[in-house]
Amino acid sequence: ADIFGAERKNSKGLNMNIISESEPFFAALDTFKDTRWSAGPLVNGDTLTGDTIEVLSPYDTTQVVGSVAFADSHAIEHALASAHGAFGSWCATPVEVRANALQKLADLLEEHREELIVLCTREAGKSIQDGIDEVREAVDFCRYYAVQAKKMMAKPELLPGPTGELNELFLQGRGVFVCISPWNFPLAIFLGQVAAALAAGNTVVAKPAEQTSIIGYRAVQLAHQAGIPKEVLQFLPGTGASVGATITADERIGGVCFTGSTVTAKRINLTLAQREGAIIPLIAETGGQNAMVVDSTSQPEQVVNDVVSSSFTSAGQRCSALRVLFLQEDIADRVIDVLKGAMNELTIGDPNSVKTDVGPVIDATAKANLNAHIDHIKQVGRLINQLELPTGTENGHFVAPIAVEIDSIKVLEKEHFGPILHVIRYKAADLPKVIDEINSTGFGLTLGIHSRNESHALALADKVNVGNVYINRNQIGAVVGVQPFGGQGLSGTGPKAGGPHYLTRFVTEKTRTNNI
Ligand code: NAD
Ligand code: ALA
Repeated sequence: ADIFGAERKNSKGLNMNIISESEPFFAALDTFKDTRWSAGPLVNGDTLTGDTIEVLSPYDTTQVVGSVAFADSHAIEHALASAHGAFGSWCATPVEVRANALQKLADLLEEHREELIVLCTREAGKSIQDGIDEVREAVDFCRYYAVQAKKMMAKPELLPGPTGELNELFLQGRGVFVCISPWNFPLAIFLGQVAAALAAGNTVVAKPAEQTSIIGYRAVQLAHQAGIPKEVLQFLPGTGASVGATITADERIGGVCFTGSTVTAKRINLTLAQREGAIIPLIAETGGQNAMVVDSTSQPEQVVNDVVSSSFTSAGQRCSALRVLFLQEDIADRVIDVLKGAMNELTIGDPNSVKTDVGPVIDATAKANLNAHIDHIKQVGRLINQLELPTGTENGHFVAPIAVEIDSIKVLEKEHFGPILHVIRYKAADLPKVIDEINSTGFGLTLGIHSRNESHALALADKVNVGNVYINRNQIGAVVGVQPFGGQGLSGTGPKAGGPHYLTRFVTEKTRTNNI
């Protein structure tokens, strides 16, 4: 039976172990290997031109992916004015019609899956498996929010009317939602935000991360093709400092949905507080300093499997990724020994090869920042293992995966968004201090626990202030509708993406008491 009920299924993705699925898939991927895309602002469905920037592949900067024109002030004004003007009719459009357009978008994403996966590898440097998962998650978000919106909004809620009055509670969109997304989930998070805002009856001005404008552009084209009116969904590529700052300061907007770094979320919060106009919601999903705590009842091989996948998948560029591994001292040497061996098995290289486990990081700035941290942490800590970059990676933004033993989480003053694992040993009696250390970072996104003592694991899960806890498995890859995802404290405001309460932040409520 379908665990989600008749109305919704999660997308199946692709099984690369089945030849009848993988062969046509690779043939289709091949069609796009030399494509050069061009992208720009999509204002009322028209692609605006302007000064263009060449987009180069993170894994090989001699390869041109295409070009993009960033939005200028004219495009920004036009997009905001049109989205503002379109709000009334989109908000009044029956939720079933909005939901159907999102279901159609999900179908189109699946139809265009190969192109989108190639774009994920070529523009964002994602591995093929990450690309498959990315499209699958985008599809799931569209379908999930379509169904949730209907559940939440199809009819007003009837409230008690003791005196004979009719009391009804209506939900409706808030206005123009600004959606600002990061490059590390350039399709899934980009479309997740947009789909939620649209389903709830808002019009949208979407700004992708500057590094992944082409993927966002294609997604918006498909959304328009699916029946989302062109004035209702506007697309403004550009930098955060110019386009992002301008649209969040605009008086006409009704809410902001942001995913990215904590620093940027705080900056946007300040902009919203200082701008003219209404007080509007900011939904912010931000970074983490994610830990895993492993006690001595754990099974070392299983631990290492989950540590490697949590730390090095997507080159460590997931907000959920494991950054600090706490090992109880009785088991630490054994785990570290197995970890060294497992790291040596990782294949670093071209994300277009299915053999690749670790691709590049996003750009030269990220690479330089991560390498600076690696130089520093090797000085203050003790090196466990650092892989060599293979030949063929010289033209890309590759960072060699590394594991380093450190004494305290306090030496990490911020999130380091790459393939860097920090390891800390602890004594069983010091577990309360471990909990305090993790909580003292102020971040609260994911926590991994490995233990065969269930009451121990559950007590730990309870005491660490995070949004998502994973016991005896890896701590990445939350599934829409299954593991609603999002953090606390410095890691975000909630509500959780892919969860039943997410849409509540995108709507406003009206109570009508009718005594006719
Ligand atoms: P970032 O904060 O640098 O940029 C995110 C987006 O904000 C981009 O589109 C950028 O252009 C825009 N932006 C930057 N300055 C702005 C401003 N002043 N006003 C408006 N918009 C502005 O983050 P990033 O480097 O793109 O992404 C990586 C970060 O995202 C990491 O910290 C990661 O942990 C976090 N992240 C969190 C989640 C989550 O669900 N919690 C998911 C993915 C990524
Ligand atoms: N939702 C993404 C994950 O769980 C960030 O890895």
